[in-house]
Amino acid sequence: MSAEHDPRLREIYAHPVGRDAIDRLLLQIGRSPRWVTNPLAATMRLSTLARLAKPVLGDRFAPSLLEVLADHDDAPTSTPAVVTSAEQPWWTRAVFYQVYPRSFADSDGDGVGDLRGVLSRLDHLADLGVDCLWLSPIFDSPNEDMGYDVRDYRAVMAEMGTLADLDELIAACHERGMRIILDLVVNHTSAEHAWFQAAVADPEGPYGSYYHLRPGRPGEDGTGPPPNNWTSFFSGSAWRWIPQAQRWALHLFAPGQVDLRWEEPQVRAEVADIVQWWRARGVDGFRLDVINYISKRPDLPDGNEAIGALLGFPGIEHYFFGPRLHEYLRDLRTHGFTRAPHAPAPPSTARERHPDGTLGEPLPPDAVGVMVGETPGVGVEMTRLLAGTDRGELDLVFNFDVLDNPGKTRWDDYRYDLGYLKDHYLDYLERVGHDARIALFLDNHDNPRMLSKVLGPRAHEPALRSSLAKALATIQLMLPGTPFLYQGQEIAAVDQDFTSAAELRDVESLNRLAQLRTEGLSEEEALARVLPGARDHARVPMRWSPGPGAGFSTGSPWQPASEASVGFTVAEQVDDPDSVLGFYRRLIALRRAEPALSGGGMRVLARRSRTYFGWVRSDAAGDWLIEVNLTDRTIRRPRGLPHAEGVLGSAGLRRGATMAPYECVVACVSAHPSSSD
Ligand code: NOJ
Ligand code: MG
Repeated sequence: MSAEHDPRLREIYAHPVGRDAIDRLLLQIGRSPRWVTNPLAATMRLSTLARLAKPVLGDRFAPSLLEVLADHDDAPTSTPAVVTSAEQPWWTRAVFYQVYPRSFADSDGDGVGDLRGVLSRLDHLADLGVDCLWLSPIFDSPNEDMGYDVRDYRAVMAEMGTLADLDELIAACHERGMRIILDLVVNHTSAEHAWFQAAVADPEGPYGSYYHLRPGRPGEDGTGPPPNNWTSFFSGSAWRWIPQAQRWALHLFAPGQVDLRWEEPQVRAEVADIVQWWRARGVDGFRLDVINYISKRPDLPDGNEAIGALLGFPGIEHYFFGPRLHEYLRDLRTHGFTRAPHAPAPPSTARERHPDGTLGEPLPPDAVGVMVGETPGVGVEMTRLLAGTDRGELDLVFNFDVLDNPGKTRWDDYRYDLGYLKDHYLDYLERVGHDARIALFLDNHDNPRMLSKVLGPRAHEPALRSSLAKALATIQLMLPGTPFLYQGQEIAAVDQDFTSAAELRDVESLNRLAQLRTEGLSEEEALARVLPGARDHARVPMRWSPGPGAGFSTGSPWQPASEASVGFTVAEQVDDPDSVLGFYRRLIALRRAEPALSGGGMRVLARRSRTYFGWVRSDAAGDWLIEVNLTDRTIRRPRGLPHAEGVLGSAGLRRGATMAPYECVVACVSAHPSSSD
């Protein structure tokens, strides 16, 4: 689609990037996509829409949108061939578990979680049935953004341990039948990275082109107009003046997280090298931080004010799905993640885990390390472009649209309606089909806990909290897709009752508070605006056992938790099969034992219901019915459900006419005749 063309809305909607962009805008303002598919709107020209919506969208909306679409004319339009189960890579059936190492387990009493702490708790993960551990950043870092600002990609952060500890952890995971992936943060480096230091010392030298450095003339105090109007995700301009270099440096995140310039071939080669280096040490792949931001529109033009106001970040249309993104990802896959033909075998590989949970021999090394993209702002169609099975780019991507209800953002204080979660996943699964695999996640280190979003203060009612935790586990582990659990989900972790800014540690929360104060808000008002979305809620120490330190540390934790309810630690749940932890274990074991539950087809029941979520997973060995009550009320089961025997449930196994609040059941429908002989 050329930038001069004046397309009809329907043409834009037929373009994958156009469709996602429009869906995103509609989601943001809380409107249904039907608004675009209605015949009258569909034939409207973009220029007409732009004229009508000028008060909201400003003048440059249409050209900005067309520019983004023109960058992606290579988008596939055909549906790729269906992938058969024989071709399914390991991660399609795996359960991933994200550890935030700073808050998982502290082995030396300094209050900071570390690698030996993770090692000491590895059996917890193996017993849970995890197939792959994802470690959030552990590379050497000044920790302006808790490791998402890397100073050295080949060294371990001192407070987390040593390279030898990491080697031991890799081997220990493999020994237990688990793979391990690390976090690759390469949209930016720390400003303390040697590359940036060299760039600052000599901006005209070989490292000057590694970063987005721009000359300028700021005022005496270093303020003065920056090169463009882009803003940082962590408040203020995305540019900082570097006096030694007499240059502006771009940082989409904190000032200490300077963006790499991927147009520079040397940057791409360095990143591929880092990946090969870790693969050779036995690491099984990476989660790639904000990887869809790496390609920026050349010349870094000003962002559209209206899009910026709507999405909160001026400039975003110039980098969230940039012109060379696909090319960079393909290159990285080939040169970084793919094993060279004669590469020596890594020191260890994961042992095979059989359907009954027992372990076999070490598996041969994977030909390609798994690439899990963290991709904020990417919608369903872009998922197919980035993670399509025949695209050679990423394996899995995260779609964040599930995290908030339409019209809401993370910063809003509201009760999340699970009816939307059902709609979102069904729409996502139906549209992605066999083209791509989806990652299923509900919690991570960047978001408050889903249990609290849904329940609000009622998250402190133990029975309701446990039921909902099991219901969410069932959705996450029984839908088609690859689940990513986040530490604490398995014991029903909820948000903290923070009461003062002094309890917060996250750079995003602290910068936001400061900004709100400068806008004139009182301390109390500012805090009330930050707490609903604060990332701190999910970053407090894991609760291993009751009592001081919660089994996390013998010292004082770097970020204390305030939530201390009885019954919600690992020790209190581990021996109780009816606890949330017991339920997770049994559910994961069932998923492993019954391949239909991880790889089988899916048929939805009572599609339109916003209170009942039911579906059937099936393969040649049999059919499984999965049911969840999405509400805190008793509901009636829809009529005409298949006959099925409950195997695992949160409120007993008998399937009567009604379902208790947040009740969930996994039931066996039938065994095909061929499987019984
Ligand atoms: C996404 C990470 O998950 C988040 O924690 C971090 O602040 C940003 N990327 C910047 O690296
Ligand atoms: Mg420690």
